[in-house]
Amino acid sequence: MDLARKNACMACHGLVHKQVGPGFVQIAERYRNDATAPARLADKIRNGSVGTWGRVIMPRQSLVSEADAQVLARWVLAQQPPAR
Ligand code: HEC
Repeated sequence: MDLARKNACMACHGLVHKQVGPGFVQIAERYRNDATAPARLADKIRNGSVGTWGRVIMPRQSLVSEADAQVLARWVLAQQPPAR
């Protein structure tokens, strides 16, 4: 959470709902059963992404270190929907 704040991820991503980018809970649900997701998302966090969720581009986050990207990917994937 601190890393996500520090790297301005929250400027575009909500925790639950879509803002500019998909909500982190939505991302977690989508990749819940995908064993390759942590590595792929870590890569996308650093290199940017487009076309997976829509037409909006996620710019590359080149200031994020490889290690931080791994932590962020795992953090995103660990998000749970709020209890209803
Ligand atoms: C300028 C806005 C913006 C910022 C800043 C941003 N994102 Fe994104 N993010 C997006 C958009 C838009 C998408 C959807 C891209 C797509 O459709 O492929 C996305 C997609 C993602 C995905 C899913 C990729 C996939 O393949 O499903 C992850 C994970 C992610 N962002 C994490 C992060 C993290 C972590 C940070 C902070 C280091 C961050 N984002 C900062 C806009 C942003």
